[in-house]
Amino acid sequence: MDPLECAVEIAKEAGILLRDRSGALEIGEKSARGDLVTAADRESERFIVERLRARFPTATILGEEGGIRAGSADERWIIDPLDGTTNYAHGYPLYCVSIGYERRGHMVAGAVYAPVLDELYAAERGSGARCNGHPLKVSAIGLVREALLCTGFVPARYERNGANFARLSQLAQAVRRDGSAALDLCFVARGVFDAFWELDLSPWDVAAGSLIVGEAGGRVSACDGGTFSVDDASIVASNGRIHAQMVQALNA
Ligand code: IPD
Ligand code: CA
Ligand code: CA
Repeated sequence: MDPLECAVEIAKEAGILLRDRSGALEIGEKSARGDLVTAADRESERFIVERLRARFPTATILGEEGGIRAGSADERWIIDPLDGTTNYAHGYPLYCVSIGYERRGHMVAGAVYAPVLDELYAAERGSGARCNGHPLKVSAIGLVREALLCTGFVPARYERNGANFARLSQLAQAVRRDGSAALDLCFVARGVFDAFWELDLSPWDVAAGSLIVGEAGGRVSACDGGTFSVDDASIVASNGRIHAQMVQALNA
């Protein structure tokens, strides 16, 4: 089966499973304060892994809740079964499922599904990015002072990003903190946010979204401006036009 088709289909099914389950939650905290997990995160991951295994039995699968399931070094699925758990737990509608597919170290397909919005973002390397079938394009804003930005942080690591948050809140038109890195990236791809940055992310937060931004004509780098890899913790994703200004502001 085609990896993009597979990512799209499974992300959608898992998203609907999350949405239908959102009334009955058992909420727990992982290692750090504010790092929430619900039974739905685990259930969604089990569902996704089972489906992927049936179609790509030899691929490696990396998921937030279950870690690495070793397989072929050439193919890696990178999944966040529920990105935006805190939002989900409070009934804030911005949460999603993120599924990325990497071949020989390069992201080649990705899908992000936000079930409350019923928005399915998808991209394949070299073929552009789409939301519910419509082509996506990043914004044309050329100045940070005219930009709507987004960032994120977990409470335990707020201080690492707090100074950036304060500085960019003064420099930009506004800064949002929406609580779902994968969806934040999709909002850059569709031109809602002009840039997004975060310092402490994991591969499952950015695998699909970073490809979607690139395929929508945006630019993705590490926060110091260096080449981005999904295994890096920091990311700045922008419309390209304000990228250098963002990197400069983040390293001031
Ligand atoms: C979190 C969200 C949040 C970001 C955190 C992530 P989770 O993922 O993407 O926006 O600020 O860094 O850990 O825990 O909801 O999957
Ligand atoms: Ca996440
Ligand atoms: Ca998650």
